[in-house]
Formats: sequence, C-alpha cells, structure tokens
Amino acid sequence: MSVAKKEFKKVTTHVLQEMKRTGEKISMLTAYDYTMAKIVDNGGIDVILVGDSASNVMHGHETTLPITLSQMIDHAAAVVRAVDRALVVVDLPFGTYQGNSKEALNSAIRIMKESGAHAVKLEGGKEVKESIERILTAGIPVMGHLGLIPQSIYKFGTYTVRAKEEDEAAKLLEDAATLEKSGCFAIVLEKIPANLAEKVAKSVTIPVIGIGAGGGVDGQVLVTHDMMGMTHEFSPRFLRRYLNLYTEMTEAVKHYVSDIKSKDFPNSNEQY
Ligand code: KIV
Repeated sequence: MSVAKKEFKKVTTHVLQEMKRTGEKISMLTAYDYTMAKIVDNGGIDVILVGDSASNVMHGHETTLPITLSQMIDHAAAVVRAVDRALVVVDLPFGTYQGNSKEALNSAIRIMKESGAHAVKLEGGKEVKESIERILTAGIPVMGHLGLIPQSIYKFGTYTVRAKEEDEAAKLLEDAATLEKSGCFAIVLEKIPANLAEKVAKSVTIPVIGIGAGGGVDGQVLVTHDMMGMTHEFSPRFLRRYLNLYTEMTEAVKHYVSDIKSKDFPNSNEQY
C-alpha cells in the first residue's frame, strides 16, 4: 500500500523536522552492511540506523556492550557507500562517550570522518548532556535514546518495559526536555507505555521515533533482521514480522545441499 507523502531527494535532519511539523510519520530501520543498506534505502526508508544492535545481530554477542568504535565505523562506512536517500545515523558504542565529553567528541568525529555518516546517536538523559553539547560544537547532529537503553542492561537487569512507574515516567519526560534543550535533532524512545510515549512526543518540538512505544509518536524504528524474520529467537510483542526469512533461507540452504549431493547442481546450463 502506498501512502501519499512529500518526496525528498535526500533526507536531512531538517526534513525530519518538517515531517514532524506536517504530521508525516518517519520510517527508520537498521542496516550494518552494504547489501542490506541498498535494499532498505531502495525501499524508501527515511532513516537508516547503524545500530549497536550489530553487536548482537552481526557479531553474536549477548549484549550491545562489546562492539567497538572501529567495528561500528566499518559497518557504517559500508552502509554509507550503499545509500542515496536516507539519513544515516550511527550509534556511539558503549564506553566511547559516557562520563567524558572530550572522548565523546573524538568518537563522534571519528565516526563522521571515517564512515561518512550524517549523524550519531547515544543513550541516556541528563547524564550525557555535556557529551551531546560538546559533540554539537563540531557541527555533528545528535539523536538521543531514552526508555529501554540496552547499554545500561547491567544497571536494570532486564529488557522489560520501562517507565511504568510515575517517578521513572517523570524522569523520562525531564530527560526528553533536556535532550531537546541540549540540541538533539530527534529522540528514540524504546519500550515504554504508549500513552507516555505520546505525551513525550507532544512535549517536545523535535521528532520522537518509537520502538515498542506505540503509534502516538512521530515515527517507528525496528531492527531489519527482526522485521524480515531473519532472527527467530527474539519475539517481543512490538515486533511485526514482514517476512519469515529464517525459515525460507534455511529451506533454500537445504535445497542447495540436496542438489549438490544428488548431482543436480550444476546442470549443463550452469557450466562453461
Ligand atoms: O541499536 C539499535 O538497533 C537501536 C534500535 C533498537 C533503536 O538502538
């Protein structure tokens, strides 16, 4: 189904602001490599996130903590080479921006210089205010991330819905205001009650993009491997799967193996 929308040649942070103003919902997906980024960009996505979920999805780690800045830069550079239209945002990995705004600036500069990406994303509220403000002094756009912040998994202990209690909800609203005031161009809200997410989206003038945060926000993001059904162990309520590629690809591999064993592949047309 196609929905009427204004066509933009290239998506910039200003375009996202315009989408918020006009009520056009923002679409965002992850990509970590050239081929997936080409597919996602050709599909008309507005924002591609080179997420630190690459730590789980591409490298098989249990959390997002182990991925390094150099690994993120390699993923981001491959994505940037594929993209014509989408805004490319790259996650600052764990340990490259917290508690040291100079290091945050250096990490963000490395990402921009070595990958050619358009913006960075980092997790947290007022604790990372100084880092955000310092990164912005170099003219690097910053996206915030509140709610479930996977880099702090060991502080919270679980991946359950955040900000269900009043005090945590109030802190989240305050943090969103801090991120806007610090100069973030957008905020990701992960796994929080839909009514709170809508309240946050209405309380700030910058776009709020949700994952597991309901439909009252300005846009949606999912991990591409999850929405394509390439991963199958992860099945949260908020995930809509558009394909079942894990099964389809496994079947294709089985078919290929069987064709080789039975000497059906290659046939006479598939050789020189
Ligand atoms: O790393 C990631 O993929 C993310 C999304 C879940 C928003 O941060």
